[in-house]
Amino acid sequence: MNAHEKGYFTEENSVEVVTGRNAGARDERLKQVMEVVTRKLHEAVKELEPTQDEWMQAILFLTRTGQMCNEWRQEFILLSDVLGVSMLVDAINNRKPSGASESTVLGPFHVANAPELPMGANICLDAKGEDMVIEGRILDTEGKPIADAVIDVWQANDEGFYDVQQKGIQPDFNLRGIFRTGPDGRYWFRAVKPKYYPIPDDGPVGRLLGSLGRHPYRPAHLHYIISADGFETLTTHIFDPDDPYIHSDAVFGVKESLLAKFDKVHDPNRAEAYDFAGDFWDVTHDFVLARNMRT
Ligand code: BEZ
Ligand code: FE
Repeated sequence: MNAHEKGYFTEENSVEVVTGRNAGARDERLKQVMEVVTRKLHEAVKELEPTQDEWMQAILFLTRTGQMCNEWRQEFILLSDVLGVSMLVDAINNRKPSGASESTVLGPFHVANAPELPMGANICLDAKGEDMVIEGRILDTEGKPIADAVIDVWQANDEGFYDVQQKGIQPDFNLRGIFRTGPDGRYWFRAVKPKYYPIPDDGPVGRLLGSLGRHPYRPAHLHYIISADGFETLTTHIFDPDDPYIHSDAVFGVKESLLAKFDKVHDPNRAEAYDFAGDFWDVTHDFVLARNMRT
């Protein structure tokens, strides 16, 4: 028996026997990961004492999750999302200095190479939905404006669908755009009020949520990736605080600091200036970027 062999496998020594077998791992981090995962997994199995049938159900659930994955659909990421693991990994990797805007999940609907648009452009290309103007500043943690910040924004439409979910129904790049701040750090653009929507729920993760008595909805939000030289890139959202799902986001992405102010405005002069037909929503939100300590 090699020095690392801990003898024959028993219920009591299961963790030591399995992890001991990895003593010669070439990658220390992999060894550590497998040790923790094995320990926690064996602990769960010992606590739950699954029947053979139950264990098979778990295996088949993971099998179906894998089979659901393709170029467009990543069911394992959805699983990680609804378990709160995506948000936990995000939190661990985005501990921000005080005053900096908080991050949240990227989600599956970001599209690279959205068009760069002049400040003030309307990203709604099909004129459907309630008009909205979004404005604010990109600041550093001392409150100074950041020039040349790049704001990549995307959102669902007023029915809760992204353009990529409705190819041929919505125009390509509907409700997406890239904006660049000037010396005052200000940004503004026009859009429509987004609506809550379900995460893709026609697969094993959606069925799991159903069995757990959970709904699949995310409260209405706008996504942002904001980058600027010398600063950490911020991947975040802003949320409508009055959304019916604001306290029960299926993927746990809501943070108090990401609740924006959505005001309904009746002001014919402003509406005309924005080229809106009538009342509109006004959303104001500043973002604060943390300085990049690695540069
Ligand atoms: C989204 O907000 O786009 C999203 C995030 C996680 C899962 C599904 C969708
Ligand atoms: Fe989203």
